[in-house]
Amino acid sequence: MITPELLSILLLIAAYLKQGFALSTESLRTPPLTTKPQSGAVVVVGGGFIGSSFCAVYLASGKRVVCSDPFVSEADLKKRIETVWPTVRARGIGGKFDSCPTSPPFERLTFESSVETALRENPTQFVQECTIEDIESKQEVLGRLDELLADQPSTIISSSTSYIPHELLITKCKHHKDRVLVGHPTIPYLDSFLEIYGTSQTHVNAAQAWYSQAGFEAVVMKKTIPGHLFNSFLTMNMRHGNKLVKDGVCTPQDVNVVLRHLGRFMYARHGYLSLLSTIGGDRGLKGGLDLSAKIKMSAISIVFYSLLKKVLFFFKGSRVRRIADFMAKKLQDKVEPPPAQEWIEACGEFEAQVTKNGTLSVPTGLFQACEPMFQRTPYEVGNDPFAIEGPSDKN
Ligand SMILES: NC(=O)c1ccc[n+]([C@@H]2O[C@H](COP(=O)([O-])OP(=O)(O)OC[C@H]3O[C@@H](n4cnc5c(N)ncnc54)[C@H](O)[C@@H]3O)[C@@H](O)[C@H]2O)c1
Repeated sequence: MITPELLSILLLIAAYLKQGFALSTESLRTPPLTTKPQSGAVVVVGGGFIGSSFCAVYLASGKRVVCSDPFVSEADLKKRIETVWPTVRARGIGGKFDSCPTSPPFERLTFESSVETALRENPTQFVQECTIEDIESKQEVLGRLDELLADQPSTIISSSTSYIPHELLITKCKHHKDRVLVGHPTIPYLDSFLEIYGTSQTHVNAAQAWYSQAGFEAVVMKKTIPGHLFNSFLTMNMRHGNKLVKDGVCTPQDVNVVLRHLGRFMYARHGYLSLLSTIGGDRGLKGGLDLSAKIKMSAISIVFYSLLKKVLFFFKGSRVRRIADFMAKKLQDKVEPPPAQEWIEACGEFEAQVTKNGTLSVPTGLFQACEPMFQRTPYEVGNDPFAIEGPSDKN
């Protein structure tokens, strides 16, 4: 008779054996990948907005690029690259501005409408998939690429997908699922962010080395979620903005203004903690963390206070307040843990650097360190190309 306990032990053993087997077959099938920057051509599949943008960045970083797209002409692709080229040059690749020629080095670009020919004639270690964001279509394209590269298991196939989680991408890859990764950029010609997810550490390490050689700042996800990291933050902001508008707190234009300025302040190397450092005034990060904990606590406590006041009407207000504070503290610790210690330490070190001569306050030091960033984002009031035009703007 199989009891539930026995069943769960059996399932655990099965899962362990499966994992062990997967690891051992990976090491048999896949020749060792190097985390050293790879040479050779990169094949970009899809020559639309993101594909052409990747082509420009890869060309600027000195690579030979083969682009394949059955629905785009070579002339169109070149035109797109030419359009974004001045921006790529201006932002530099890996901080280098000089190595970028004034016009795109098209002698290093090959266009091939058929992906079969592109892969057959250009042995490659890296394929960047940039086709349309549609689950079925992505599954087909990635399955086909895996098939065409069946005898090259160490060739990485990295998908630019914005939202589709990895487990849905690889359903039609029959040969080497492990080398299919998420390699999601923001907009490569404008910005160097990139996020990676994969199930094989070897391939993930090699992809990270590859992307950093091309000037990307790549983060590796430990788990897969829809929208990955970047778009999950975007979705959260959008959802919150929509709710604020729906609740009548502000207008869509106001949300836009808030996010634009928030974006400008989330500038420095330690993200939102840097913002907290400036909010903390002369007490820096410590002051900012205290203040932020206090604000959140008060907000939760006020909710408890107003509820308890209705129930505990025979108690004094101050006593109800103490009970509400106690409950708020318990709830806050549970639902929103403080930032990780290593994060606080990293931000603390940054603070120490910018104030090292002891003559600067934390906010002044941070602003000075980040001034170049402010100079590059000159969105002054009334000069915002992304502003939503609302009735009030027309008046
Ligand atoms: N647009 C963005 O801001 C952005 C940012 C990051 C990532 N992405 C992701 O990048 C991918 C591409 O997006 P985009 O904005 O460049 O779209 P796009 O529509 O501009 O380009 C898609 C290209 O894929 C081509 N294509 C379609 N099927 C193909 C096939 N079977 N083989 C080869 N090419 C094929 C199309 O002809 C088109 O040129 C999507 O997964 C998207 O989610 C987009």
